[in-house]
Amino acid sequence: MADERVKTGVPGLDEILHGGLIKGHNILVTGCAGTGKTILCTQFLYQGAKKFNEPGILVTLEEMPNELRKEASLFKWDVKELEEQKKFAIIDAASSKAGLPTGEKFALRRGFDVNTLAQEIYRTTKEIGAKRVVIDSIAGLGMQFEGTINIRTAIFRLSALLREINCTSLMTSEVPAGDVFTRYGVEEFIAQGVILLYLEEEAGELKRSLVVRKMRGTSHSLKRYPFEINDDKGIVVML
Ligand SMILES: Nc1ncnc2c1ncn2[C@@H]1O[C@H](COP(=O)(O)OP(=O)(O)O)[C@@H](O)[C@H]1O
Ligand SMILES: [Mg+2]
Repeated sequence: MADERVKTGVPGLDEILHGGLIKGHNILVTGCAGTGKTILCTQFLYQGAKKFNEPGILVTLEEMPNELRKEASLFKWDVKELEEQKKFAIIDAASSKAGLPTGEKFALRRGFDVNTLAQEIYRTTKEIGAKRVVIDSIAGLGMQFEGTINIRTAIFRLSALLREINCTSLMTSEVPAGDVFTRYGVEEFIAQGVILLYLEEEAGELKRSLVVRKMRGTSHSLKRYPFEINDDKGIVVML
């Protein structure tokens, strides 16, 4: 029997993936700063909840929840409305990392550590019946570890949790400019798929493009496709 597919809600990307992501898989989205990782992930959750009735969780480790809501609203993605309907939840891990108090419903209130984060993801998944999860970004896991737990252990642990709860998930990783696409040397092996985002100069202009580098369990295009970020639709891949 064929694996069940999960539409990303990103026009063009589902075609490249020959129908969408595979349900339950954990996908790494990687690229330099400003390549569109956060927008892609937000779109995946927003469209998932809105169009496909799949509640989603955005675990934010760097940006504050209100910044994310505001950025989403520029694309007319009303995240607040979905939060009220319990179809979208933002877990604020950014405040605790920054040592700031938070007024968020879902947050790490007793300081940051990966076990607490895993518990909060688990609890929130049950509360809203989440089918999609985003962790933005795994670089944010890399600081404030106590004892021997390192970032690789953290990535392993979260990845195991994401499989356990049977959600389709994206995790982002920021890489320095250049051809590097893996930062911690494990994430591309752990993830069942890797999507690379690029922002590169071409004839004096920066151009956006993406490529699906790995996607276990499915055929997919290996071409590099240009994409745009537009106010109406967010990310649109040009086929
Ligand atoms: N409303 C918008 N319309 C078009 N482009 C946008 C809009 N908002 C942000 N962008 C572009 O997206 C970039 C940020 O995308 P983001 O997903 O935050 O990147 P990353 O998470 O990879 O650092 C901005 O630098 C800008 O070029
Ligand atoms: Mg980002």
